[in-house]
Amino acid sequence: MLTRQELLQRITRVPQVNIGHFPTPLEACPRLSETLGGPQIFMKREDCSGLAFGGNKVRQLTFTIGEGVSQGADTIVHGAASQSNHCRQTAAACSKLGLKCYLRLARDPKSVVQGNVLLDYLTGADVEFVDVPFGPKLEAFKINLAEKLKADGLKPYVVTSPRSTALAAVAFAWCIAEIHEQQTELGIDADWIYTSSVGGTQSGLVLGTKSLGMKLKPYACAPIHWEGKINRIRDAANSAAAILQLDTMVNDEDIINTDDYIGEAYGHLTPEGIAALKLVARTEGIILDPVYTSKAMACLIDHIKEGRFSTDDVVIFLHTGGTPALFAYPEELNESLP
Ligand SMILES: Cc1ncc(COP(=O)(O)O)c(C=O)c1O
Repeated sequence: MLTRQELLQRITRVPQVNIGHFPTPLEACPRLSETLGGPQIFMKREDCSGLAFGGNKVRQLTFTIGEGVSQGADTIVHGAASQSNHCRQTAAACSKLGLKCYLRLARDPKSVVQGNVLLDYLTGADVEFVDVPFGPKLEAFKINLAEKLKADGLKPYVVTSPRSTALAAVAFAWCIAEIHEQQTELGIDADWIYTSSVGGTQSGLVLGTKSLGMKLKPYACAPIHWEGKINRIRDAANSAAAILQLDTMVNDEDIINTDDYIGEAYGHLTPEGIAALKLVARTEGIILDPVYTSKAMACLIDHIKEGRFSTDDVVIFLHTGGTPALFAYPEELNESLP
């Protein structure tokens, strides 16, 4: 087991760029807790991480772009689903650091110049929609594009798994170190941290809490069905442990990740998610996103309704951002109003 200072020292040694507002706040949500008759809920505001509407990827990009810059990159290549929060935060980070940014977005029903896509254009990224499905084929496409850019004399760095997921785990071990300190300041010792993740965010939460010997346990809701997700989350956590030279080993039993709140498919809104989004907006003035955090909040609300917590328990909800995507779902959200 490590102390917080020891963990932070190890994290400081990993190449990084200064692009976000850290530490992000950890704030109480008393009206949400009271309305639900549930535990004391605190929200860790990664949506306030400072860059182009924030989100969990700012912390991750601190290390992925940090790695690229340490290798001499002048160009970042990324690509994912069209409304990717990760791509939007990458484009904004490149603006801030004076790097070129190439985004190749999978053409899909949300390939509209709204939400994240609008921000990709506004931040000056080179954006193209491609008829390549999001997944391994798009990853290969990105690597191929980087080869072409190299031939043109650029020095590209590709944001791609598994490296990017391992560095995300480093980032969220750091987030846990922040929470550790903030809990001491607030005089709380939470039992659970809920989040939306099927990758590096959860890996880092698990690694961080385990290496510091905290009672805090991560509970993650997947936003997408992902075959082999437990292996992916475990391997990223253990790769991050190797990067940070930690003795901590993450096992399958450390990983709780449910598919129960995905709904029809990735990117499709659920009635429970929309209800959760409205409840948090109307009790705390905090805006969740339609694809990730609203579904994770629906899970927490269900667990409260099932009676899993007492009013003395403390639960942290990690708000991973994603709010610009709201503006790509006007019809679906309008239907649910007022
Ligand atoms: C808003 C938001 N929340 C959660 C996630 C899930 O993160 P991961 O599965 O990479 O840990 C993402 C990923 O894109 C996201 O954009």
